[in-house]
Amino acid sequence: MAAVLENQPLQELDEWDDFVASRYKEGKSEDEFRNYKADANPTVTEFYRQNHAYQTLQFVLGKKAEYCGLTRGQKSIWEMAEYLNQLVDDSDPDTDLTQIEHLLQTSEAVRKDGHPRWFVLTGFVHDLGKVLCLYGEPQWAVVGDTFPVGCAYSDQIVFPEFFAANPDSQVPEYQTKYGIYEPNCGLDKVHLSWGHDEYIYQVTRNYLPEPAQYMLRYHSFYPAHRHGAYKHLMTEHDERMFNWVRAFNPYDLYSKGRERPNMKEILPYYQDLVAEFFPDKINW
Ligand SMILES: [Fe+2]
Ligand SMILES: [Fe+2]
Repeated sequence: MAAVLENQPLQELDEWDDFVASRYKEGKSEDEFRNYKADANPTVTEFYRQNHAYQTLQFVLGKKAEYCGLTRGQKSIWEMAEYLNQLVDDSDPDTDLTQIEHLLQTSEAVRKDGHPRWFVLTGFVHDLGKVLCLYGEPQWAVVGDTFPVGCAYSDQIVFPEFFAANPDSQVPEYQTKYGIYEPNCGLDKVHLSWGHDEYIYQVTRNYLPEPAQYMLRYHSFYPAHRHGAYKHLMTEHDERMFNWVRAFNPYDLYSKGRERPNMKEILPYYQDLVAEFFPDKINW
């Protein structure tokens, strides 16, 4: 049990999402942002300590080999959403949303703004990759702001001081500006820290249009989409596509305060929507 808790400092995964939302609270100035540590409670801080210490290039390559072949069986989007719902928080049942409710709140906000159906669907599936937690992955390998491994860490990543404990920080080849990458090689060639973004991108990539793929794959890549870091690894096409990532981000960040979705009322719409883009079962 102690070993489990050691790897699970957050009481619930949403603690990380809440911290990110507080960092980018609407109306917050750049100066206030720089004081983000004031918003981080000890469990969030411990979470980042682990995330930054353990996400090495070798770890990421290992997880990609383990998961990106999608060999964990076939399930429908709905079965996976039900499965993810097991990650229920029991500390405050009145105010906390289930995982499906977070997904629907995000997608409903997208829908209300009149965006295309694929955009709504992207909101609905965007956090399904958090099932990694139920596969037994530690929190630091499921959530957290993502960042490239195998090259120098940007100072736009939160808690940069925690990278000192990462073994990669002792590998000179990985600590140059470009590291193992070529200038402007394109993000598809860059390995980001492992988490729920890359996994849901891999699962859904054959069924959704390219802007959706970018939204899913990079929605936690805050150093790039919020702070403009790592442009030296991006192509012009990546930069254009990041307009979509930025368009998606407010729906993820700020959907929580909105009203609770009326599941019964909206479910038929989502059943149609999922069936329009996905076959009954897909590989996970
Ligand atoms: Fe997410
Ligand atoms: Fe989310």
